[in-house]
Amino acid sequence: MDFERLLEPVTPELFRSEYSDRKPLYIPAPEGADKALLSWDGFEQATSIMANWPKSTIRLAKNKQQLDCSHVRTTAAERGVAGTSRTGTIDMAKVHELLAQGYNFVGARCEYILPELGALCADLNARLNVRATAILFASFRNIGSFDKHFDTNDVFAIQCEGRKRWQIFAARADSPVKQDRAAGRAEDASDEVIFDEVLGPGDVIYVPRGYIHEAVTQSDTSLHVSISLHEFRALKVVDILRDLVLDDPAFRANLPDVRNGDYRVIRPMLTDLADRLAGLLASDRLVEEIAFRQNIRSQPWHRIDMAEVASSPRYIVLLNAVQDRDAREERLAGYLSTNELPLVERRVVEWIADRKTFSRAALAAEFSFAEPSIDAMLARLEEAGLIAEGRRG
Ligand SMILES: [Fe+2]
Repeated sequence: MDFERLLEPVTPELFRSEYSDRKPLYIPAPEGADKALLSWDGFEQATSIMANWPKSTIRLAKNKQQLDCSHVRTTAAERGVAGTSRTGTIDMAKVHELLAQGYNFVGARCEYILPELGALCADLNARLNVRATAILFASFRNIGSFDKHFDTNDVFAIQCEGRKRWQIFAARADSPVKQDRAAGRAEDASDEVIFDEVLGPGDVIYVPRGYIHEAVTQSDTSLHVSISLHEFRALKVVDILRDLVLDDPAFRANLPDVRNGDYRVIRPMLTDLADRLAGLLASDRLVEEIAFRQNIRSQPWHRIDMAEVASSPRYIVLLNAVQDRDAREERLAGYLSTNELPLVERRVVEWIADRKTFSRAALAAEFSFAEPSIDAMLARLEEAGLIAEGRRG
């Protein structure tokens, strides 16, 4: 499944111009096209793998009450299904017991478990410049799991088994982000319904962030996948600025004492800092940093390819054979500064500088978006004497 098939018969162009971040989109399963990504067999497969995962991957909910992960955690004395679980991971026997008591199941990070979901999320990442994560919801009829709520990310929900009634309300929170989740409470919103349909297997709904909605199971059991699209928000600029200002001593200076209410003593300093921040905001350096972080976030995650691992060249980091720490730092700083390297190459060099040896395959997995320029970077590093191709093993 890819982005195009998910939207079918709606085109990606129409989605972008009419719906993306604007309004909900309901896509009933087109005749003959099966978009239901998994069956109960797939659910079983996913949950059996989850037994070895961090306990925070699974949540259980019943009538608006959510159990924290302590309810499904294994301890050294208690072992889970088939004795495979370890301390601190999920005890699936406990999960089964709670499901039998009518708890609904919410499992995160399923893009790592089910190849179909992984492929769809990777395509969404590349196409929409997001980090897509998949969450599984298995629920029982008449057992509520969540109150009316809004999400802080856009969501594609794909009904896989059973039927679920989705209602979306007119009220929409303005660009909510998870940091201010407490603001814009869903229960304060009006009850005007703008969407009300029962979704069956293969039906898809897109809910932009901020739209208040509720989903209630209509069949005995229901299985659906929600794909959350984590966008790169403007707030990230502030995080990046925090890193960039470290290079400027003006931001490392002490602030004047304003406890007595005399704000004049701090004004000249703040005006100077504002000018410096404005300079950074207008700089290519900031944009380069944004592009780098977007690339890292949306690139495909690493998969192990044995043939590639076996044939991949290995490199020795000669830089790290330099015994004198100051001499090493000087060589590294010299390489980074004199060559006016693009940001991605600086980051590659920093990654290499943390290692004694590395394989090309490992480097390419870490920076897969930069694959076309990796060989040229390695050649420059070899020429500068910072690395040397070594024997395998
Ligand atoms: Fe939701």
